[in-house]
Amino acid sequence: MSVFESKTPLPDPHITARAKGLLGFETLYLRVSKQLQLLINIDQVESWSKKYHGKRLALVEVLRDQYPFAIFYGDVGTGKSAMAEAIGNRIAKDAKIEDSVLFKLSNRVRGTGSVGEMGTLISEAFAEIKKSIGKDRRAILIIDEGDSLAASRTQEQSHHEDKVAVNTLIQAIDELRASKGRIFTILCTNRMSVLDPAIQRRAAVVEHFRRPNAGQRKDLFDMDLADLGLTQPQIASLVASTGALAGNPSWTYSDIRTRLYPAAVALAFPDTGLTFAHFEQALQVTSPSPALAD
Ligand SMILES: Nc1ncnc2c1ncn2[C@@H]1O[C@H](COP(=O)(O)OP(=O)(O)O)[C@@H](O)[C@H]1O
Ligand SMILES: [Mg+2]
Repeated sequence: MSVFESKTPLPDPHITARAKGLLGFETLYLRVSKQLQLLINIDQVESWSKKYHGKRLALVEVLRDQYPFAIFYGDVGTGKSAMAEAIGNRIAKDAKIEDSVLFKLSNRVRGTGSVGEMGTLISEAFAEIKKSIGKDRRAILIIDEGDSLAASRTQEQSHHEDKVAVNTLIQAIDELRASKGRIFTILCTNRMSVLDPAIQRRAAVVEHFRRPNAGQRKDLFDMDLADLGLTQPQIASLVASTGALAGNPSWTYSDIRTRLYPAAVALAFPDTGLTFAHFEQALQVTSPSPALAD
């Protein structure tokens, strides 16, 4: 059994299609891709330096020391996993690179608890990725729910096994630099503060994912419910009802898509068509996921 949940050749048409339904993807991609370009095309940065400065600037060496490593953090359901995949896919697409592979690390990498196993599995995972890129291919690695691997070594409940695993992960991230950006890792976590400081410090890109604000929720409802023929006041009412109310945080993207919508449809199906009233009823019986501490 593989320690990878999936290995997907990029660009992948399904991920490309899914990215179209992700609000704010273009904005996020534009923001991070500039930074990513410097990390994943470090050799081109050197050519750029020679072209415009006639030499390799000292700065280029400094950039070389950056880790091809990003952290996406934020509450459950704010789009970290979906965006990480979509960004990896888009990098491959824009770079017009054949033979990129998206690796998703599975929780199986935690192993079954026998001594040294987790560290060994992590090393094996990175070794496999390194092998896969050969001389000219690329790989994107997504470590989802990364807190289960990269939690601080100083935590009370941190066991020896976990500490070894974090050390191994740090070492693997350090070694990624040798790939000159051909391997890029995105670690997603719900809790930034539990990550080991040495892991946090290595991230060249850190993105905080937030719950959608009123404007973004409106965009989501407009996109998802356009063909239902709801009125603008009805949409406005849904936007208000999914805001922060009565001590609850506002709703996340997945709260709306995977809790509210199915609840509303279940009230209508199979006997009647879906109406605004079903959404109102569904809102009475569903609630947003709790906010996490950081
Ligand atoms: N920016 C977005 N626009 C629209 N839907 C989104 C967005 N982000 C997340 N979603 C929806 O929420 C679901 C959960 O997102 P996911 O990436 O799994 O969240 P996380 O990894 O942060 O827990 C996605 O499958 C998608 O349907
Ligand atoms: Mg996720």
